[in-house]
Amino acid sequence: MKRLGIYVHVPFCKKKCNYCDFYSVKWDYEAENKYIEAILNEIKGYKEKLSIFTADTIFFGGGTPTIIKPSNLKRIIESINDLIVIDKNAEITVEANPNTLSHENLIAYKKIGINRLSIGIQSLNDEILKKIGRIHNGDEALSSIDRAKKNGFENINADVMFNIPGQNVKDIENTIDRIIEKDIKHISFYSLKLEKETPLYIMEQSNKITMPEEDEERKMYYAGRSAMEKRNLMQYEISNFALKGYECKHNFKYWNQEEYIGLGPSAHSFLNNIRFSNLSDLNLYCENLKSNKFERITHEELSEDDLMFEYIMLRLRLTEGININEFNNKFSTDFKGMYKMQINYLHKNNLIDLSENNIKLTQKGMDISNYVIEEFMI
Ligand SMILES: C[S@@+](CC[C@H](N)C(=O)[O-])C[C@H]1O[C@@H](n2cnc3c(N)ncnc32)[C@H](O)[C@@H]1O
Ligand code: SF4
Repeated sequence: MKRLGIYVHVPFCKKKCNYCDFYSVKWDYEAENKYIEAILNEIKGYKEKLSIFTADTIFFGGGTPTIIKPSNLKRIIESINDLIVIDKNAEITVEANPNTLSHENLIAYKKIGINRLSIGIQSLNDEILKKIGRIHNGDEALSSIDRAKKNGFENINADVMFNIPGQNVKDIENTIDRIIEKDIKHISFYSLKLEKETPLYIMEQSNKITMPEEDEERKMYYAGRSAMEKRNLMQYEISNFALKGYECKHNFKYWNQEEYIGLGPSAHSFLNNIRFSNLSDLNLYCENLKSNKFERITHEELSEDDLMFEYIMLRLRLTEGININEFNNKFSTDFKGMYKMQINYLHKNNLIDLSENNIKLTQKGMDISNYVIEEFMI
């Protein structure tokens, strides 16, 4: 049986944060019900197409999946189960906003087989949280971790952001230390990116806020990384750190170019070397699915060259880098011969580490990973 990842996009939030451009709309009961009807139809539409797969990861992302009724998450899991075998050790993750992780919800999540939580903590500094438009404070974020642990969740990720105007190194270290004290096993550590049309972007454009300088951003990154590594949460990807054995299996599928389907508005899929994505419009998505119409906004069949470049780009994000034998077998080629010039140049400039069978980014290479990756575009 081939293995498949399943991503489910839940496009609702209580309130939009000031930096975020993930597709989500304001939640209400009516919209939730319409969405559930539509996504159950989308799942049914995959009938027979997925019979060769076993699902070994399911990831509810958002938006805020914990805003909808747990019984609706259960209906989604059951209808996936009608279609495809779910591995008994499957990793089933739910992204959560601290403000929506009630005791009752946590009990229900356990019952329906959810075994990993990804909580959006962002920072434990109340001023920063307010500035970025979060609906919780630091204490509430920490007590959501306590509640999750009390209810038997031990595989928990915390999202933490840095590069926020007004933030400093001390602040980052304090946030990370206090989160790790709660025995958190995984941290996704994201540099704030100003996304067009978000409130923070508009504030920056009108000089109401100033983004940290690039060297300040790097200082925050190094401080966060060393605070995590001191406590054995080791970097395994540019933005991800984990205790050994707690790396996110679902996200590994993206970086390893493995197959997954995305359900729900704006979700992306990769199946049979084709990348496609759903409409980012909840109303249209629901309308279409009433008549079993599966409208995609993108559909791209990747050529062998596309696949090769993409594989390099994805695998260089991982600290383990690229296994050259694996690459050569996958693409029936000779990696070192093909990229001889690039490898020499990048190695000479201390941007990659090279051994007989492996190539990976150095720390310097990680800092300018986009530049290094572009070198492989031929
Ligand atoms: C889709 S959100 C899901 C988490 C959940 N909705 C919450 O916010 O609590 C995933 C994560 O992406 C990160 N993120 C979103 N927008 C970002 C941006 N513009 N720059 C950097 N990180 C961002 C945040 O850390 C966020 O927790
Ligand atoms: S960060 Fe999370 S809660 Fe905030 S708007 Fe984005 S998806 Fe919604």
